[in-house]
Amino acid sequence: MRTGVWLVGARGSVATTSIVGGLALRAHLAGPTGCVTELPELRGPALPAFADLVFGGHDVATTPLAKRAETLAAAGVLPGRLVAALPDELAAVEEELRCAPGGDTPADRVAAVVRDLTDFRDRHRLDRVVVVNVSSTEPAAHPHPAHADLAALRDALADTPDVLPASSLYAYAALQAGCPYVDFTPSTGARLPALHALAVERGLPYAGHDGKTGETLVKSVLAPMFAMRHLRVRSWSGLNLLGGGDGANLADPAANAAKVESKQRVLGETFGYVPQGETRIDYVEDLGDFKTAWDLVTFTGFLDTRMRMEFTWHGCDSALAAPLVLDLARLTAAAHAAGRVGPLTELAFFFKDPLGAPTHSLAEQWARLTEFTRDLHAGKENADGHAG
Ligand SMILES: NC(=O)c1ccc[n+]([C@@H]2O[C@H](COP(=O)([O-])OP(=O)(O)OC[C@H]3O[C@@H](n4cnc5c(N)ncnc54)[C@H](O)[C@@H]3O)[C@@H](O)[C@H]2O)c1
Repeated sequence: MRTGVWLVGARGSVATTSIVGGLALRAHLAGPTGCVTELPELRGPALPAFADLVFGGHDVATTPLAKRAETLAAAGVLPGRLVAALPDELAAVEEELRCAPGGDTPADRVAAVVRDLTDFRDRHRLDRVVVVNVSSTEPAAHPHPAHADLAALRDALADTPDVLPASSLYAYAALQAGCPYVDFTPSTGARLPALHALAVERGLPYAGHDGKTGETLVKSVLAPMFAMRHLRVRSWSGLNLLGGGDGANLADPAANAAKVESKQRVLGETFGYVPQGETRIDYVEDLGDFKTAWDLVTFTGFLDTRMRMEFTWHGCDSALAAPLVLDLARLTAAAHAAGRVGPLTELAFFFKDPLGAPTHSLAEQWARLTEFTRDLHAGKENADGHAG
């Protein structure tokens, strides 16, 4: 199943690490540590092989991909030997990267993205292309009445300059081009009723939001533990320190607010009440892609006895995110091949702020994901059996 992986933000840290990782896996230069689709519970015939993935994407930046990869290698995010071993493969992906679309109106920009996606699909004779948004986090979108209605949105795209934020414009174009869309960021993306209607009209699945890779991943394991033991969490405060492009972008208060909201949701939705405390994200340039999170939790037990726990997480953000980007592309491609339409709520395991109203418990999310992939593999074996 030849599958295109079109990355919006293709020259960023997460995208570059995903591309180098995907190429290294294809060349058997690296193992799949961190790729959950390679665990025995998820592996199977419905998923495209790593060798079947073809990369392309859009970015507003123009730094050559190989240069970005070298910078990440110098920072210890990627092994330098992989970058050195893959010059031709990286050059081939470079050929598939396009500038973020220009145009006078949003409709012109949508048309340009649709053209880039369909050209890519045709050029490589791909069965499908999954569009994954890994571009900079945007501030929350300004509400617009056309967000609620597909026909109104189609009209507004012709003459209303800012009717959609960039992430939703890419989502619209992806769906219009017949491509499933995954949002790895907290940006609005496909999360608008009009875009849901477009996905249904075009018979496409979509997934999101905001990859769960570090502090929130730990929270989604610990919070259900407190809830299941009927312990009362009184406060949960977190401080995240990070550098890199994501950190620099999150220094903007509006983007920071969107991210913080996404990170705290797990607590309110797990406990049914919101403990005191906040999650803060501070930019420290020197840390680069390596993030440190400190969390302090205060809670009470039997007879109101007060207790506390603390944890520290030191993560390399792009190395944690990239295998999940590959997982999401493979799973979403398989879901599309199986005829799934609308939000893929079974992929909640991967996200801080999952679509629908599923559980935030990682254990329950894992159970739903394994059931989902079992069904996909059974359906594929069935179809192959009939074809044979
Ligand atoms: N790394 C993680 O663990 C993690 C986890 C969850 C979510 N995310 C999200 O993933 C995204 C990428 O993170 P990163 O560390 O790679 O950031 P980055 O700054 O290195 O990369 C973002 C890229 O997006 C590009 N871009 C910005 N606006 C664009 C547009 N309109 N069209 C096309 N490209 C555009 C930038 O030029 C840049 O190359 C962020 O939104 C981040 O919040 C990352």
